[in-house]
Formats: sequence, C-alpha cells, structure tokens
Amino acid sequence: KPIFILNGPNLNLLGEREPEIYGGNTLATIEDALRNRAATLGVSIDFRQTNHEGVLVDQIQEARHAASGLILNAGAYTHTSVAIHDALRALSLPIIEVHLSNIYKREAFRHRSYVSPAATGVICGLGAQGYGLALDAVAEILKASAP
Ligand code: DQA
Repeated sequence: KPIFILNGPNLNLLGEREPEIYGGNTLATIEDALRNRAATLGVSIDFRQTNHEGVLVDQIQEARHAASGLILNAGAYTHTSVAIHDALRALSLPIIEVHLSNIYKREAFRHRSYVSPAATGVICGLGAQGYGLALDAVAEILKASAP
C-alpha cells in the first residue's frame, strides 16, 4: 500500500506565496523529489493537495484501508479542525505531521495543532526537506514493523 502524502489549503500556491516563509519550491518540485526518494527507499507514495476540509477528511478516512502510512501538512486546518483530528484518531498507521515553517516561531494562533495529539511525530521549520525526512521516518517505521 502507498504512503499517503496529503496537503491542505493554499499549499498549491507554494513558490508564489510568501516565499520568505515557505521557500521557493513549488509543490510539484516537492512531489518530484519525494518520488525519487520513495524509489530509493522502495516505497510508493500517493501525493495529493486539496483546499477543502471535507475532502481532507475523506482522504484521511480513505487512508484507513488504502495507505500504509500518512504524511500530512494540513495547512491552516492544523490550527482549527476538530474534524481532521477525529479522522486521524480513527487511523492505526504511522502519521507524521509536517510544516514547512516553524509554527512555534510564528503568530500565537499557529502554536496550537489539532493534528499533533494524533500524530506519531512532528517535523516543522525545515522547509521542503521536512517532507523527505518524514518519508524516511515512515519507511523506517514500516520496515521495523514488517513481519
Ligand atoms: C503550514 C503552516 C500553517 O500555519 C499555514 O497555515 C500553512 C502552511 C506550513 O507548512 O508551514 O498553510 O502548514
């Protein structure tokens, strides 16, 4: 089963939107790098982006049966969505929360995450590199738990 890599609202604008905070990489560039890394690690990925909270909830529910692990950058819904929190709690997969920026260095409203209490681990502040590290982590966890 693939590792789902799900991206929430406004991440389609990466590269154009506040590059001083989020970096100059586009989401397509990040996806390409992850595909290469996945091939090296011997895992497959299913990479998606949506601006819609309900679609993210649907995709997280889909991951229950269709994914081996989940990497999630829920964007601003990180700080607001009890629905995403609840959907994550229904998963029994490794879940890595990723943010490009260091949310703890920013506005107070970004300091609370509804994703973190449901996540296996959290990576933030390392830019696009964080996604690659998250993929390494999920691959390692899956390898360690393989029968
Ligand atoms: C983000 C951080 C969030 O606070 C913000 O709303 C985003 C991107 C990040 O990757 O740094 O959209 O998740």
